[in-house]
Amino acid sequence: MPGKILVTGGAGYIGSHTTLLLLEAGYQVVVVDNLSNSSLESLRRVENLTGKEVVFYKADIREKDKLISIFEEHQIDGVVHFAGLKAVGESTQIPLEYYEQNVYGTVSLLKVMQQFNCLRIVFSSSATVYGDPATVPITEDFPVSATNPYGRSKLYIEEIMRDLAISNDAWNIILLRYFNPIGAHDSGQIGEDPQGIPNNLMPYISQVAVGKRDKLSVFGGDYPTIDGTGVRDYIHVVDLSDAHVKAIQKIESLNGVSTFNLGTGKGYSVLQMVDAFKEGAGKAVPYEIVERRPGDIAECWADASLAEKILGWKASRGLQEMVNDTWRWQSSNPNGYKN
Ligand code: NAD
Ligand code: UD1
Repeated sequence: MPGKILVTGGAGYIGSHTTLLLLEAGYQVVVVDNLSNSSLESLRRVENLTGKEVVFYKADIREKDKLISIFEEHQIDGVVHFAGLKAVGESTQIPLEYYEQNVYGTVSLLKVMQQFNCLRIVFSSSATVYGDPATVPITEDFPVSATNPYGRSKLYIEEIMRDLAISNDAWNIILLRYFNPIGAHDSGQIGEDPQGIPNNLMPYISQVAVGKRDKLSVFGGDYPTIDGTGVRDYIHVVDLSDAHVKAIQKIESLNGVSTFNLGTGKGYSVLQMVDAFKEGAGKAVPYEIVERRPGDIAECWADASLAEKILGWKASRGLQEMVNDTWRWQSSNPNGYKN
């Protein structure tokens, strides 16, 4: 039976889409976000799209007192935990900030959950925990490793949650390892709104297409892939968000820690993405092949059959839908949520 879900980082890219789907599924949603990488406008639009209210607290997950007062005010049935920092390059420059916000912030949240005997959490992990996989597709039992502080923070959090489940078998913990989320809600009202120069491929391509940037730098043309450029498993953000709703619906029946890959099982190269964008948006995307980006891997895609078997979830949106929805969001909101 639907209840009340706390979504940390709910004003962000994946959090706002998940909040929308949780509301549509009948849950009440309380969002905690410090707005360090998002704007409240995303949640205002979620309210408009659903006709339902989002209870919002501007707070940092490191602020235990604030979390305690939120748990005192609301009977929380489960937590979906997105809040944290996510830029790989930045994490190598300011690692302590990543460990404090991601690792300490999560510990702070877990302590408050424990205090209120709220023992159900769905956590945003990442395919980055597989490092450079020996083969593809990747299953959840592949060895894990990290090459940067961001990835290490995700691995530490996974381990901390495993320790917690050992300490008390009443915990229900779901670790979701995302492959590459792209796309936007098909209304074009909410989407990804990166601050400054985008680090990731899809927001960069769409900013080139909309005329905000001159050309795409393709990082490496000599990988052992179909056309020499990097291959990734891009997944529509609405499919990804839907997996969180399914996880919350199933969490009570999954004791201890469960880990799932969230991807489509298909890989596309950078140049295939450029072509798909040209087709979907009708815009050429000028590009230049440059040096490889340090730390990048050649190819990576998921075996997501465990999520299908256990959660009853499978990605249903294809590449063209991802591109079309990205473009609808980008072209109708060229400056993101500003204006
Ligand atoms: P995002 O930056 O849009 O969302 C994160 C949200 O958390 C933002 O609204 C930000 O303001 C908030 N936040 C950050 N630190 C906080 C803190 N200390 N206290 C309270 N709020 C805080 O990012 P996203 O793309 O929506 O990613 C959500 C989660 O998914 C992150 O944990 C990220 O590491 C993980 N993830 C993302 C991707 C991706 O490619 N987008 C891939 C794998 C995993
Ligand atoms: C990034 C993160 C990774 C995270 C993943 C999922 C980095 C280094 N890694 O990986 O931790 O788990 O997102 O969200 O940020 N590309 C270009 N030009 C660009 C941008 C990207 O050619 O301007 C290429 C990359 O080399 C790669 C592909 O596009 O082959 C996808 O890149 P990106 O969107 O950054 O995702 P990942 O590298 O998979």
